[in-house]
Amino acid sequence: MAFKKENFYIETFGCQMNEFDSERISAILEKQGYLKTENRENAGLIILNTCSVRLKAENKLFGHIGNLKVLKEQNPGLVICIGGCTAQSLKEKLIDTFPYIDIVFGTGNIENLSDLIKTRATSSKSICKTSGNPEEIKELIDFKRKFPFKAFIPVMTGCDNYCSYCIVPYVRGHEKSIKPATIIDSIKKLAADGVFEVTLLGQNVNSYGQSFGHNVEAEDAALKNANSFAKLLNEIAAIQGIKRIRFMTSHPKDFTEDIINAVRDNSNVMGHIHLPFQSGSDKILEMMNRKYTSKEYEDLFYKMKERIPDCSVTTDIIVGFPGEQEEDFNKTLELVRKLKFSRAFTFLYSSRKGTKAEAFYDPVPIVEKKKWFKQLLDTQNAISLAENEKMTGKVFEALVESESTKKSGRLEGRLENNTIVNFDGPKGLTGSFINLEITQAHPFYLSGKIAEHK
Ligand code: 5AD
Ligand code: SF4
Repeated sequence: MAFKKENFYIETFGCQMNEFDSERISAILEKQGYLKTENRENAGLIILNTCSVRLKAENKLFGHIGNLKVLKEQNPGLVICIGGCTAQSLKEKLIDTFPYIDIVFGTGNIENLSDLIKTRATSSKSICKTSGNPEEIKELIDFKRKFPFKAFIPVMTGCDNYCSYCIVPYVRGHEKSIKPATIIDSIKKLAADGVFEVTLLGQNVNSYGQSFGHNVEAEDAALKNANSFAKLLNEIAAIQGIKRIRFMTSHPKDFTEDIINAVRDNSNVMGHIHLPFQSGSDKILEMMNRKYTSKEYEDLFYKMKERIPDCSVTTDIIVGFPGEQEEDFNKTLELVRKLKFSRAFTFLYSSRKGTKAEAFYDPVPIVEKKKWFKQLLDTQNAISLAENEKMTGKVFEALVESESTKKSGRLEGRLENNTIVNFDGPKGLTGSFINLEITQAHPFYLSGKIAEHK
């Protein structure tokens, strides 16, 4: 295949919300007659859907945009679009730095993308449109799914928490929940179309419905009673054909008992909870504006483990927040050793423009922070391996998701607790449930074989 005006190539950076947005963008473009290509050299339209949560992501993006210059020189007809959170935060500055960008579009302007492309075709100037509000999403089925049997569904957009380090509330706007009827109807349609796993997405899914209290019009007053994530989970769990329900991300301050009970009581709500704790020091948690103490987090963690059998908890941790001292870091390390997360995503603090923490005094040198980071990583890797080793020799049900990207003849299955298992098997098993015996543990995945008996 060679360069064709009607081919589009899309690359996604960052979180699953961006993945979902890319699926929406792909659906919009395909409706306009564009064809998706996996090779950017063949594309007449290139879209980068960007992430700005850490500076490193932004710098990497600049490298990617820089590389597109040669392609534009080879094919002056090429249309380059930059969307997502970096587009929303840097706006025209992106075009000033990279004048060969054709369109910068914001997180609330996805619906306008095909109009913007048409306008650009008849105009001599690049376009920057980032003023759109993330629109009320009326249907959740108009996106191009990667897997025929599973779908990612946003239940809310934006965030009102303003953790002091985080840029998300500034680039994704206010928290806005999608109406329960929209979500339920969409999932029913997806189930009829062969989808049996859904992952509910939002920056803080546990506060689902709270925005109805102040956004809703008078005729929708009934929604005020629909303001609970637990209720939503129970309703989705009752939809025929939905065998696996997952959700992310959770916030400890909003994880109520009825949500724990909804996970416990519905066998199709998976026992995996991603619950970022960020820091084990109460001083730092307060500076982060997280609104819980390490003791409150710990209590919640144990309550989940007690009530939900085989529940796995994963987390996010930030190292080197401004003002964090060795004693604060040691509290984080202590909590990690005590709670034994299945997996932790660890991040070195990255100062983001416009956030509260940007102005905080930050005296600890980066070399020291990196030392802490390495210590935390080594500790957690050993814990993840030990936790995974507890599963060896046992048999678990897995959903076969895809062929392994690493080795031919290998398949990848996902357990209820979200752990990936690699095993040998025929490609035809993809999309089905199978029992796997775990033969070997690794820190981030397992090896297994098809089990004779459960
Ligand atoms: N620096 C480092 N990590 C961050 N995160 C969010 N903002 C920052 C930042 N400025 C991390 C948090 C969050 C995860 C998605 O990214 O741990 O939970
Ligand atoms: Fe950022 Fe905090 Fe909102 Fe998560 S809850 S998106 S960390 S502001």
